[in-house]
This record gives sequence, structure tokens and C-alpha cells, in this order.
Amino acid sequence: MKRPLADDHAEIDCLLEEFFAALAARDVEMIYRTLDFFWARLAMHIRAEHLHLFPAILDAVKTQTAENVSLPSLTEARNAINELHDDHNFFMSELLAAIKTLRELRENNAVADFSNRIEKVRDAVVSVKRRLETHNQIEETEVYRWAERLLSAPESAALDERMRREITNLPPRFGISAGS
Ligand SMILES: [Fe+2]
Ligand SMILES: [Fe+2]
Repeated sequence: MKRPLADDHAEIDCLLEEFFAALAARDVEMIYRTLDFFWARLAMHIRAEHLHLFPAILDAVKTQTAENVSLPSLTEARNAINELHDDHNFFMSELLAAIKTLRELRENNAVADFSNRIEKVRDAVVSVKRRLETHNQIEETEVYRWAERLLSAPESAALDERMRREITNLPPRFGISAGS
């Protein structure tokens, strides 16, 4: 069964490709807009993991009674989730800095170091892309699977629904209502 967060990874990857296409076209407005949208979608995804997925996994691990080698201990689950948290912080801080630079370049694209600053934005987003690939792989092959194994079918369906709401709740600045 495909899970909402794994599907969301694929959609967010496509948004990143749109940013790199805008970068190749050297269109500052499109570079800004595509990165702003990627940033927003990634932030919504991270929010779903922090608010719903990670607490559900930790709660279920704490109360599990069955001996099962395919399930993590509480320490393993905590360590894995802490590392994912560190990745999330890295993504958000790099993207915030890139967005700030792009906002300045939108205001004044005649600045002398325009090319250098665009290159710095590219480097930052490439570093996010690389770390995101490993991050998503760990989630899809380990952490998301823990949730599937730990939760009952009704718990899992309820969790998916809460996460689906979170990842479709776009900020108003994009002019698209939640769930559409
Ligand atoms: Fe994540
Ligand atoms: Fe994720």
C-alpha cells in the first residue's frame, strides 16, 4: 500500500526539478516562486511527520508487548527520529537563507554580485537535495515501515488521514484552499 508521505516525497522531488529548470533559464521570479513553493511543501511535510507520525511511532513503541525483531527498541526509534529532526532543521535553515537571498535579488537584480549569489543559492539547494535523498530513503525503508507494523489497520488509517490533511494545508499565500 502506498502511503501519503511516500507519495508526497515524489511530488516534492518534482517541485525541486521545477526550481532547477527555472535556475537554468536564469529567471529570478520563477526561481523564487519555485523555491518558495518547494519550501512550503517540504515544511508542510515535515510538520506532518513532527505532529503526527513521530509521536504515533514513539507511543506505539512504548506500549508494544510483542517480541518482534523487525520493530525498533525505544532507543533505536528515538535515535532515528532525532537524526531525522536534525535533517529537517538543516533543510529549513538552508532554504530560509536561500529564500532571503532570492527576495533581495528580486528587489534589485542589478546587484554587482548577482551571479555569485545565485550560485550560492544553487549550492545550498543542491546540498538540501542530496541530504533529502538519503533522508527520504531512510524514512521509506525504515521509519514509515515501523508505523505500518506497529499500528492496527484503523489506527493506521486514522494516522494517514491526519497526515493527508496536514500535507494538503497550503499557506494562504499560494491561493489554493486546503485539500484541493
Ligand atoms: Fe522527514
Ligand atoms: Fe518524509
